[in-house]
Amino acid sequence: MSQVALVTGASSGVGEALAPRLAAAGWRVYGLSRRSVELTGVTSLPADISDAEAVSRAVRELVEREGRLDAVFHCAGVGGAGAVETMPTERAKQVMETNFWGSWNLCQATLPHLRQSPRGRLLLVSSIAGHMGIPFRSAYCASKAAVIALSDSLRLELQGSSVQVSCVSPGDIATNSIATQYRQPASELDPLYRERYRRADDAMAQNVDHGMTAAHVADRMITIAVRDSLAPHYVIGEPLQKISTIARRILPASAWEWVLGRYYS
Ligand SMILES: NC(=O)c1ccc[n+]([C@@H]2O[C@H](COP(=O)([O-])OP(=O)(O)OC[C@H]3O[C@@H](n4cnc5c(N)ncnc54)[C@H](OP(=O)(O)O)[C@@H]3O)[C@@H](O)[C@H]2O)c1
Repeated sequence: MSQVALVTGASSGVGEALAPRLAAAGWRVYGLSRRSVELTGVTSLPADISDAEAVSRAVRELVEREGRLDAVFHCAGVGGAGAVETMPTERAKQVMETNFWGSWNLCQATLPHLRQSPRGRLLLVSSIAGHMGIPFRSAYCASKAAVIALSDSLRLELQGSSVQVSCVSPGDIATNSIATQYRQPASELDPLYRERYRRADDAMAQNVDHGMTAAHVADRMITIAVRDSLAPHYVIGEPLQKISTIARRILPASAWEWVLGRYYS
């Protein structure tokens, strides 16, 4: 019997690359995002991940049609840039609503069904940025750190069940994510921050432009999901980016801040 998967963020980037790959591999696939998706072998389930009722409705529809849910690939997410001092709070909350509360909503809606599967899989996408603070990306880093903690807690709560949870932290991926996210205009920032903000924002945009392909990340996520045993964390990226998640913990603070300061200037 075909396995049934839900892919969030299927209208763009990693989710858009992942959903048709799963379908081509024989999975029955549903794609959830606010925009509807038209991808070969993928059934569209339009919903806003930050709206708990909408997510629950979409998942109910999937289960009514298929009678089961075996895997969730949670790729939906948004970025956001600005200085903590002046970034509009509503914008920062939107990042948290989508990335953290969206993950929460998805877990609540899907876990009862995943637990019925003999081989339930839940892959939550965080980011290397969730392992550290990055200048002028505070809300995003905080939201992705929260996803890592959510995933770690869930793994412990689900011990003794058939569901395996893992958190995937990619480095830069060449998608539209920078173009579509809120970025506070530099002119709104205090002169203390302005030039460093411009440089950090340019560096971020360039890193993303030259990042991994969404297809590469999608392939890695499929390889992870079909393993018999899932590790708590997978970091996907260039060696330097992968090392950064360890370096951040072992370097003295002054050395780490110097390195990161150079990277974003
Ligand atoms: N790009 C990078 O460099 C990078 C690096 C590390 C981690 N990540 C993470 O990897 C994941 C995929 O990133 P990506 O670059 O592929 O992003 P992307 O191309 O910007 O696509 C984001 C996807 O999330 C969906 N989405 C956003 N807000 C949503 C909402 N409120 N409700 C439902 N769906 C929503 C979007 O669909 P709609 O707009 O149609 O709703 C879209 O399908 C994200 O979690 C991102 O944070 C990205």
